[in-house]
Amino acid sequence: MSKQTLERILQSQGFGTRKWCAELVAEGEVSINGEVITDTRLSIETDGLAFTIYDEEWRYREHLYIALHKPADYECSRKPSHHPGVLSLLPEQFALRDVQPVGRLDHDTTGLLLMSDDGSFIHAQSSPKRHVPKVYVATTHAPVTPHLIAQLLKGVKLHDEPAPLAAIVCNMLDSHRLEIVLEQGKYHQVKRMLAAAGNHCTALCRTQIGGLKLDDLDLAEGEWRYLNEIELALLAPTPV
Ligand code: URA
Repeated sequence: MSKQTLERILQSQGFGTRKWCAELVAEGEVSINGEVITDTRLSIETDGLAFTIYDEEWRYREHLYIALHKPADYECSRKPSHHPGVLSLLPEQFALRDVQPVGRLDHDTTGLLLMSDDGSFIHAQSSPKRHVPKVYVATTHAPVTPHLIAQLLKGVKLHDEPAPLAAIVCNMLDSHRLEIVLEQGKYHQVKRMLAAAGNHCTALCRTQIGGLKLDDLDLAEGEWRYLNEIELALLAPTPV
């Protein structure tokens, strides 16, 4: 249980500076349980709090844990240069909460991207010591062959990597598509592994992180939603 003043609550949720949030309240733009609150100093319990600003309802969240179905032509970088950033797909105030992608997908890669403002969650999820399998569906230029799959499972040598990198699972889906499961998250890893094995990746989609499947989230490209406790638990590392 924790109580805070309404202006501080709104600031913590990304609605602007404390002064700006105090003005929003004083101007009657904020209501709780249908009642307009104009006392900026009112101390309010944050647990389970729902509030309305400009007729839109929000729930107080100490941290944000979000799954986004990333479309192509969006960049994960904080300062996107050639395409819009993935943050532009989320409500504006999330940027003020310093929401960031957990790891990165290339601008032309689609699929499951986690986003959060919880530094320890981001750090833990991105740690190379954490063995969270990530599943990708890669479309290839040349046909998928048993030899290609054998190479990816055995391990391929990438420039700048001291040891060969291998897929933990690799299945042919059809003549030009394969499902590949990786435990590491090296730069352009799937594309570079396919190139090192003599093929070329023409499209890439991340379909699963740990036990969390994009299909189960029911998100169209560009859509996002909050993850619940059960979904977050599916991101726990798998012992190796
Ligand atoms: N591997 C890649 O090559 N690109 C991605 O975006 C993710 C994994």
